[in-house]
Amino acid sequence: PRVKGWDFSFLYQYQGFWCPSRYLHGILSFQRHFQAKDTDIVLVTFPKSGTTWLKALTYTIANRSRYTLENTPLLTTPSHDLVPFTDLEIYSKNQSSILEDLPTPRILATHLPYASLPQSIINSNCRIVYLCRNPLDQFTSYWHFVLQPADPVSIDEAFEKFCQGVTMFGPVWDHELGYWKASLEKSNNVLFLKYEDLKEDIIYSTKKLADFIGCPFTNEEEAQGVIEEISKFCSFDNMKNLQVNQTGKVAYFGMETKAFFRKGKVGDWTNHLTPSMSKRLHNLMEEKFGESGLMTFLQS
Ligand code: A3P
Repeated sequence: PRVKGWDFSFLYQYQGFWCPSRYLHGILSFQRHFQAKDTDIVLVTFPKSGTTWLKALTYTIANRSRYTLENTPLLTTPSHDLVPFTDLEIYSKNQSSILEDLPTPRILATHLPYASLPQSIINSNCRIVYLCRNPLDQFTSYWHFVLQPADPVSIDEAFEKFCQGVTMFGPVWDHELGYWKASLEKSNNVLFLKYEDLKEDIIYSTKKLADFIGCPFTNEEEAQGVIEEISKFCSFDNMKNLQVNQTGKVAYFGMETKAFFRKGKVGDWTNHLTPSMSKRLHNLMEEKFGESGLMTFLQS
C-alpha cells in the first residue's frame, strides 16, 4: 500500500517499514550493491533523533589526526555533506564510485531498519552506531521539520499516523527494537546510544563513541582536554552558530542547514503534546518492546 504522507513524498510499505518513494531506488541499490569493509563505521538513526550531531561527532573524532578544530571541514561544510546518507544520497544519485575513494575508516549513514541493512554490512565486522531519542521529542522535531514543505498538517493528525507507525522509516518501535536486539547479540559491532545520554554527559559519550569506533583517546589527549574541546565544538550552540549552519545549504538535500538546528533540547514535547498523547505512545512502546529491556533503557 502507498500513503500520501504528511511528508516529502509518498510512503510505501517496503520490508515492513514505511519507505519514502523518492528514495526507493537508492535504497534498493544500496541493499544490492554495497560492499562493506570491516573498518567501516555505519551511523544509524531514526529521522530527527540527532543524526546531524552524531555525524559531526564521529567525523571529528575519526579525523582528528588530519584536521584540528581550527581547520576542520565542518567549519565550512555541513555534516550531512561530509557524511552523506549512503542510500538516500550516494546511491540515489548513482554516485557509489565515490565510496571507493573515502579515507579509512569510511563513515557511512543510513536510516534503514536493521533487518533491511545490506547483507554485506551484517556479514562484515564493521561497526554500527545507533542513536535513538525519546520518540515524543523525535516526533515533535519531525513535525516541525516537515511543516516547512508545503504540506502542513495538524499535530493531532500527524501524531495519529505516527502511532499507527506511518512515518518515514517507521514504525519507530520496530526500528529501535531491531538495533536494540542486535546490540545485545553483537555488542562488539553495534553500539546503542541515546540522545538524552549524550545531552546529560557528552564527555562520557564522546569517549565511549571513540572507543567503540576504534579511535580511542590517548591519555595525553585526555590530559590536554581534547575530549572536552571536541564535545564543545560539536555542541548544539556551537554548531548552530557556525556560518555554514546559519546560511548554508546541504548540497545533497538542497535543504537549508539551519533546518537541522531547532532547539536541541530534551523534553520539548511537553510544549506541543498532551499528557494523554504521551501516555498513548508510552503504552504502545511498552506493548511492542515486551520483555526486551528496551523500555527500561529508554527510561533510565
Ligand atoms: P529539535 O528539533 O528537537 O531541536 P536530525 O539531526 O536527526 O535531523 O535531528 C535533528 C534534531 O537534533 C533537532 O532537534 C536538532 O535541533 C537537534 N540537533 C542538531 N544538532 C544538535 C547538536 N549538535 N546537539 C544536540 N542536538 C542537536
